[in-house]
Amino acid sequence: MKFCFLLISWCVFILPECKSERCDDWGVDNMKLTQLYEGEPARISCPLFQDFLKHNYSTAHSAGLTLMWYRTSQGKDLEEPINIRLPDNRINKDKDTLWFRPALLNDTGNYTCMLRNTSFCSRVAFPLEVLRKEPGLCISPAEKIEVVEFYLDHLEILTCPDTDGFFPANITVNWYMDCNLVTGFVEREPLGLQLIFRTVRQHYEGNYTCVVTYEENGKMYTLTRTRRVKAYSSPSKSKPPSMTTPNNNTDYLVATGEDLNLPCEVYFSFIKNSHTDIWWLVDGKNAENSDPKVNVTTSVKDLRSGDKTIIKLLRIKSLTPEDLKRNYTCIASNSLGTISRQAIIKEKVGTPRYITELACGLGATVFLVVCLIVAYHVYWLEMVLFYRAHFGTDETIGDGKEYDVYVSYARNAEEEEFVLVTLRGVLENEFGYKLCIFDRDSLPGGIITDETLSFIKKSRRLLVVISPSYVLRGTQALLELKAGLENMATQGNIQLILVQFKAIKSKDRVKELKLAQKVLSVIKWKGEKSMYPGGRFWKQLHVALPVKKTCPSKESICIYTELQSL
Ligand SMILES: *[C@@H]1O[C@H](CO)[C@@H](O)[C@H](O)[C@H]1NC(C)=O
Ligand SMILES: *[C@@H]1O[C@H](CO)[C@@H](O)[C@H](O)[C@H]1NC(C)=O
Ligand SMILES: *[C@@H]1O[C@H](CO)[C@@H](O)[C@H](O)[C@H]1NC(C)=O
Ligand SMILES: *[C@@H]1O[C@H](CO)[C@@H](O)[C@H](O)[C@H]1NC(C)=O
Ligand SMILES: *[C@@H]1O[C@H](CO)[C@@H](O)[C@H](O)[C@H]1NC(C)=O
Ligand SMILES: *[C@@H]1O[C@H](CO)[C@@H](O)[C@H](O)[C@H]1NC(C)=O
Ligand SMILES: *[C@@H]1O[C@H](CO)[C@@H](O)[C@H](O)[C@H]1NC(C)=O
Ligand SMILES: *[C@@H]1O[C@H](CO)[C@@H](O)[C@H](O)[C@H]1NC(C)=O
Ligand SMILES: *[C@@H]1O[C@H](CO)[C@@H](O)[C@H](O)[C@H]1NC(C)=O
Repeated sequence: MKFCFLLISWCVFILPECKSERCDDWGVDNMKLTQLYEGEPARISCPLFQDFLKHNYSTAHSAGLTLMWYRTSQGKDLEEPINIRLPDNRINKDKDTLWFRPALLNDTGNYTCMLRNTSFCSRVAFPLEVLRKEPGLCISPAEKIEVVEFYLDHLEILTCPDTDGFFPANITVNWYMDCNLVTGFVEREPLGLQLIFRTVRQHYEGNYTCVVTYEENGKMYTLTRTRRVKAYSSPSKSKPPSMTTPNNNTDYLVATGEDLNLPCEVYFSFIKNSHTDIWWLVDGKNAENSDPKVNVTTSVKDLRSGDKTIIKLLRIKSLTPEDLKRNYTCIASNSLGTISRQAIIKEKVGTPRYITELACGLGATVFLVVCLIVAYHVYWLEMVLFYRAHFGTDETIGDGKEYDVYVSYARNAEEEEFVLVTLRGVLENEFGYKLCIFDRDSLPGGIITDETLSFIKKSRRLLVVISPSYVLRGTQALLELKAGLENMATQGNIQLILVQFKAIKSKDRVKELKLAQKVLSVIKWKGEKSMYPGGRFWKQLHVALPVKKTCPSKESICIYTELQSL
């Protein structure tokens, strides 16, 4: 509907030529945004002759082509021809230029200029914005300000732009820096339409505005023009690019499977109109956007005076061995020169992942071993007893021996009580061993020596209860010890168990005891502390005693105590 209406209205206007032929429409060129100030004289030119056609206005005009202007006002859909018959000729057309004397706020809109004859048509539109100055400021914050580049420490002249053709000779010009009137500024002097910078300094950067006032046909007009001055390093300081990374001193250590991150960091000093290019070559080919494995990102750091640092980061995810062998070269270039550096990539031996895995494994193993050692030290007796109770073979079966333990001790009241009450009580009643206690089991009247030897031969263990009296008075005890040792050495079918009932001084020890103590560990009786049948003393003793599965007497207690000892 809207389109039809537009078409019809357009046809009505240029009815004589209205045929169905199309017009080359370049659309709205938003790059050509024109900004004017309300109340100021202004002019706009048709962009067709600048950017779109080979013609200039005079050749087009002489070829019989006519130029027409249209406007789509802000908030309207309809394209209308511009009325150039306004009072005071507020808007008038001169060749390819449209003049406003002055521009008003409602002139804002999209302006179209169209060049045509009966067989040819071309048109383009561009936006025009009329601005109102911010109260208290010399400009509008909406103004898009053009930048002028001045060299540091140079003499530069800023000329009030785009003013020729506007005014007669008599004008007044005021210069402002960031809307402050320039009077008595250091090193900056206004001179009519020019502002002279005797020496450009970094802190002279800013928005410089010239306001031209003149009188025409009895009316006062102003023109406002603003440029942003930026200071750049002078050409004497400009250099070819310099590359921070990669460099000869840095190796990139990576391993296959890891990600590669190669930064190429280049410092570009300011050079007017120079290109600043930087790119990565992978095996001689530009990697960006061509190699799907390679991701290149760019970041720019603007430094003072127009110098800048550009970083191109090349990234490859999970490297393959082939990737490690490729040639990664970064190249940077400006108008003064080109630099290139190859990134030195070296393969890391043993990736951290494997190392950490290995370390973890090793740590876990060490930890486990330590735990086992600790557990073994704390619980080894229990473990041995447990093992014996469940998997040990009964060594008492078929060895032709009658007694489990022959007890050798000093015949002394204290030792006797220990042997007959404590030892016997636990070993016989609780553990179910058969003890041979000479004074209890020998028949009266026999020859002591013979009987002792025969008893020892019939026993599986010789339990020696060590006490000071053992070596002092016990002639029989010493005989028993000697016989036991001899038996152990010659036939090896009896084992010695040393139980220290009371400590003896080493100088008092007999030769045989010293020998025995050297090879055997001593189970120490600790008095009251050792009384409890489930305690350490008894477990140690139990381990030293023969493995015996069946308990001839009080079987249940025997099994019970073995289990309890766990
Ligand atoms: C227009 O172009 C012609 C030749 O192409 C040239 O002679 C003439 O000076 C130009 N006119 C203007 C105003 O530039
Ligand atoms: C000018 O045209 C553009 C489309 O390119 C549109 O977005 C904009 O609103 C138009 N401006 C006016 C004032 O009509
Ligand atoms: C713009 O505003 C002026 C007065 O403020 C008025 O005379 C003129 O007709 C308006 N123009 C348009 C296109 O609306
Ligand atoms: C219209 O202008 C074009 C381009 O300048 C030209 O080639 C053509 O001959 C003109 N047609 C007429 C009828 O003047
Ligand atoms: C220029 O303008 C000033 C005031 O703005 C006036 O005094 C002076 O006479 C004018 N000169 C000429 C030649 O018009
Ligand atoms: C100059 O103008 C630009 C654009 O309007 C603005 O971003 C900048 O802050 C201004 N500079 C100063 C010093 O006011
Ligand atoms: C880096 O090494 C290359 C070749 O080995 C050499 O040509 C270049 O001068 C070196 N650059 C620096 C800064 O040392
Ligand atoms: C790596 O590539 C660069 C650029 O293509 C080349 O100059 C350089 O000689 C190559 N280096 C090696 C070791 O092939
Ligand atoms: C490259 O990496 C950036 C940042 O991680 C990501 O945004 C981008 O999509 C990646 N480009 C390609 C082509 O993978």
